[in-house]
Amino acid sequence: MISISRNGLLLSNLFLFLLFVLYFNHQISNLQQERQISYQKTPTYGSIIIYNRVPKTGSTTFTNAVAYDLGKQNGFTTVHLNMTKNKPVMSLPDQEYFIRNVSSWTDMQPMFLHGHVSFIDFTKFGYPQPIYINLLREPLDRLLSHYYFLRFGDNFRVGLKRSRAGNNETFDQCVQRGGHDCDVKQLWIQIPYFCGHHTFCSEVGNREALETAKRHLIEHYLLVGTSDRMRDFIAILDLSLPKFFRGALEHFDSLDETRSHLRSTKKKIEPSDQTISIIKMSGAYQLEREFYDFARNHFDAIFMKATNGTGKLTNLLRKSQFHYEKIKTFH
Ligand SMILES: *[C@@H]1O[C@H](CO)[C@@H](O)[C@H](O)[C@H]1NC(C)=O
Ligand SMILES: *[C@@H]1O[C@H](CO)[C@@H](O)[C@H](O)[C@H]1NC(C)=O
Ligand SMILES: *[C@@H]1O[C@H](CO)[C@@H](O)[C@H](O)[C@H]1NC(C)=O
Ligand SMILES: *[C@@H]1O[C@H](CO)[C@@H](O)[C@H](O)[C@H]1NC(C)=O
Repeated sequence: MISISRNGLLLSNLFLFLLFVLYFNHQISNLQQERQISYQKTPTYGSIIIYNRVPKTGSTTFTNAVAYDLGKQNGFTTVHLNMTKNKPVMSLPDQEYFIRNVSSWTDMQPMFLHGHVSFIDFTKFGYPQPIYINLLREPLDRLLSHYYFLRFGDNFRVGLKRSRAGNNETFDQCVQRGGHDCDVKQLWIQIPYFCGHHTFCSEVGNREALETAKRHLIEHYLLVGTSDRMRDFIAILDLSLPKFFRGALEHFDSLDETRSHLRSTKKKIEPSDQTISIIKMSGAYQLEREFYDFARNHFDAIFMKATNGTGKLTNLLRKSQFHYEKIKTFH
């Protein structure tokens, strides 16, 4: 009697356990189905550009007046990566899925991908790195532009009501009362975009984040320009990445003022000297500024070399400064 019920108990336990295993397997395969990739042709190298654009750096001008316009002429696809709730950081499974997806999506290649996303290291997942490019802006200028953009909108999406519409507090007034939108924490943005997906990247004033951002800029970005020198940036891209940007400078120069300066914030009030000195005293500003200066010097050096040491766009070297010789081949 007792042994039967014990067996029965054992059996029902086993049954429950099996049910559990089946259910779990089902859950896992469901999870994986959502992340399925259809592998087509082998991906080709150099066919993906990622422009992980920072808000309010002139990125709309560059994206629309260059990438979207040139796609047809040069035969590439432009894709916007829309990050849920504008959060620039992905989970590890999302990174893997994203990398596998864009790397295998040969129908869309060559592909110019732009979005408000932090640097993602493809090589960590065993994939070749895409070509990264970006534009930076002086950190306080960027924040001021963003601050007034939230209040007054811009000339690009005119009808769209911005989140702080109706609020006419100036940046100075905001700093005086220690408001949120002008907090020095809001300056911490260009470093995290380059630093990437590590937790310390978003820690305001973290020096390791600055060093990582610099390292990524040097090692993984083909070119990083500054918004006040967009024309120089486009000229170098035109010659350095012809597959995507052949004819970009000519096209940019042919645009009228409204398109080549797409998206300027409607109203901006210059901050007082006192506000400027408060901002400049903060660690967040100092590190962001150090990063910006680093990027600018790096771009300058590239530009000098490409313009035969003159720094003038008109002297851009169009013929290569090397040739082949003493060729000895066996076929
Ligand atoms: C990548 O994702 C898009 C959107 O979900 C999908 O349409 C496309 O088929 C995917 N590409 C590959 C190669 O699976
Ligand atoms: C991103 O997607 C959301 C949800 O579909 C949409 O409301 C938002 O306008 C999109 N962002 C941009 C810049 O198009
Ligand atoms: C904002 O502007 C309105 C008029 O458009 C004015 O009545 C109001 O006093 C202003 N507020 C501040 C804080 O300047
Ligand atoms: C580059 O500059 C040197 C002088 O520094 C000049 O002799 C040379 O002709 C220039 N090259 C080109 C292609 O302009």
